[in-house]
Amino acid sequence: MRFISVLIPSFFLISSVLAGRREHLSLSHDLAKKPTNAAPNRLADSNNTPNWAGAIWNQPNGTFWLVTGTFIVPDITGQMVNSTAYASVGIDGGTCADIMLHAGVRLTVNSTGPSYDAWYMWGNEFANLFDPSVDISPGDTIRLTVGTPGGNETSGYAMIQNLSTEKDSIRNFDSQRALCGQNAMWIAARLSGAPLANFGTVTFTEATAEAHNGQTYPPQGATITEIVGPGDQPLTSVSVDGDEVSIRHL
Ligand SMILES: *[C@@H]1O[C@H](CO)[C@@H](O)[C@H](O)[C@H]1NC(C)=O
Ligand SMILES: *[C@@H]1O[C@H](CO)[C@@H](O)[C@H](O)[C@H]1NC(C)=O
Ligand SMILES: *[C@@H]1O[C@H](CO)[C@@H](O)[C@H](O)[C@H]1NC(C)=O
Ligand SMILES: *[C@@H]1O[C@H](CO)[C@@H](O)[C@H](O)[C@H]1NC(C)=O
Ligand SMILES: *[C@@H]1O[C@H](CO)[C@@H](O)[C@H](O)[C@H]1NC(C)=O
Repeated sequence: MRFISVLIPSFFLISSVLAGRREHLSLSHDLAKKPTNAAPNRLADSNNTPNWAGAIWNQPNGTFWLVTGTFIVPDITGQMVNSTAYASVGIDGGTCADIMLHAGVRLTVNSTGPSYDAWYMWGNEFANLFDPSVDISPGDTIRLTVGTPGGNETSGYAMIQNLSTEKDSIRNFDSQRALCGQNAMWIAARLSGAPLANFGTVTFTEATAEAHNGQTYPPQGATITEIVGPGDQPLTSVSVDGDEVSIRHL
């Protein structure tokens, strides 16, 4: 099944869908505060714990128009109630922190057990379910893609594809606000304040970002970031090999 839904100003959409249970995926918030004197390739410090791990390119405005990656949905059975993890790919959210376009899968555990939801974000702070009818199970091979193919940064799309079934789901956006196109990201993240679910390993394969000038950026060469817990203890271990990014929960 394919559905296309045409623009919805993100704030209205998000508040209507999440009325009463707003979620705060503050990638941008935490990243915006990153001190510039952080150790190279480690955007972590004890006062400002990052809530995402993975690979990020930081380039000038107007660089990226497409980011994609494929991963196998991990099983989070047995994790602590209320723990979460997000796997996503996206444009912006790093050096351009005000607005971002991400697509991903939310892994969450409540009192009845684990659940897996498709997810996207256009805007800066709120996560949103992609579509309730996109049914995700552990072991699914999922391709995530976001792009601004129209040649401007105010309109774009987020897409999730089930490579086992060729089913896909797309959302198109048109906004007053422009993306910067500065960052390409492949990450695993947590909600601020919520325990990080042990997601095992999330490996993005066929990961690539496309620039307006035709250049292709694999994760190789991007900045690597880890999530750290109390006492600066690393909670993840990221490795990159060509067009693959592997994010392992320790
Ligand atoms: C999980 O979250 C719900 C809703 O916020 C809360 O009512 C419940 O106490 C939490 N459970 C645990 C085990 O933390
Ligand atoms: C737990 O998650 C499932 C799947 O999302 C949902 O149907 C159920 O209502 C949730 N239960 C509670 C107590 O929040
Ligand atoms: C992907 O396909 C598998 C196998 O048919 C199915 O079990 C799963 O629900 C599908 N997931 C999505 C996101 O469509
Ligand atoms: C951006 O591109 C989209 C798709 O081509 C178009 O519909 C929209 O009007 C454009 N917006 C601006 C501000 O140029
Ligand atoms: C980068 O792009 C954004 C969005 O188009 C814009 O608001 C910002 O001023 C630009 N920054 C620079 C340094 O050009």
